[in-house]
Amino acid sequence: MYVILGATGHTGSIVADTLLAKNQKVRVVGRNKERLSRFVARGAEAFEADATDPNALSRAFGRAKAAYALLPPDMGSTDYRAHQDEITNAIVRAIETSGVTHVVALSSFGADKPEKTGPVAGLHVLEQRLAKIPKLNVLNVRAGYFMENTLPQVGIIKNFGMMAGPVSADLRLPMIATRDIGAAAAEALLKLDFSGQQTKELLGQRDITYLEAARIVGTAIGIPNLTYIQMPPEQVIQGMTQMGMSKSMAALIIEMADSLNNGHMRALEPRTAANTTPTSYEEFVKEVFVPAYKGQARSA
Ligand SMILES: NC(=O)c1ccc[n+]([C@@H]2O[C@H](COP(=O)([O-])OP(=O)(O)OC[C@H]3O[C@@H](n4cnc5c(N)ncnc54)[C@H](OP(=O)(O)O)[C@@H]3O)[C@@H](O)[C@H]2O)c1
Repeated sequence: MYVILGATGHTGSIVADTLLAKNQKVRVVGRNKERLSRFVARGAEAFEADATDPNALSRAFGRAKAAYALLPPDMGSTDYRAHQDEITNAIVRAIETSGVTHVVALSSFGADKPEKTGPVAGLHVLEQRLAKIPKLNVLNVRAGYFMENTLPQVGIIKNFGMMAGPVSADLRLPMIATRDIGAAAAEALLKLDFSGQQTKELLGQRDITYLEAARIVGTAIGIPNLTYIQMPPEQVIQGMTQMGMSKSMAALIIEMADSLNNGHMRALEPRTAANTTPTSYEEFVKEVFVPAYKGQARSA
């Protein structure tokens, strides 16, 4: 039995779908059974649990041999780092009290650093805590910068006619489509060929800058001279909190952007076939960004 946290999300849904397609026994975890029902229709067991609740999570992990673990984000959390650590505690307890022997954990590039990486520091803690569980086999998937992070640009383009954010315009980022992360995690769970503590970076199809992303998006949506402007932190924080993000999370995003911009947070592995994934930013834009752009009206 495999247990999958965040099964309705970007990466977990791909993990669940892939394992079910291979006729594996799967228990999908989420906060709402209704949202999990599409997996139940395909033979999965659904388990309702909040990942901050160690007792519920321990029951969710019961009798499973392997798990896909992640720290589900709560952008509105007033203390985002504390929220991450609360979920890490619950995951650790759930593993310790269940028979789980293998865990694929969703981490990030930059999780080697203990601090100054914004939300990624919480993933460092997750990796460290999992490493201390006796006899557990862990694969920490250190994913690149999600292509989905560019989706909030839909609203910015509609309202200001440009792309904007805290990251330097010409910084080369290992941008990755979340579906490729899910596919790699599912493959590792099917093979279970990792032992002890392992990390694996996943760096997307190629490195890409926000300026290049703007050119690709612009071409796809019919604004050929669309550009990207790096904004001062105060303005970014104001924009993000207006969109409903907590001040705590907005501050962490700025810390992460600084860390990316000054090179503190960077991929450690050279790019190889093993850490390169198939989906290009052009494909992501065509299949995900453009439909989101077409579906979203200009805000007032
Ligand atoms: N953004 C990046 O560039 C980047 C890069 C590397 C790593 N990461 C990491 O990737 C992770 C997010 O992965 P993802 O995008 O696959 O996740 P996601 O899609 O944001 O969320 C996964 C699911 O978690 C569930 N969830 C939310 N809060 C929960 C809670 N308290 N208890 C139980 N379930 C809860 C939600 O489903 P329900 O509503 O159905 O419960 C949601 O669909 C984060 O830890 C992030 O730090 C991000």
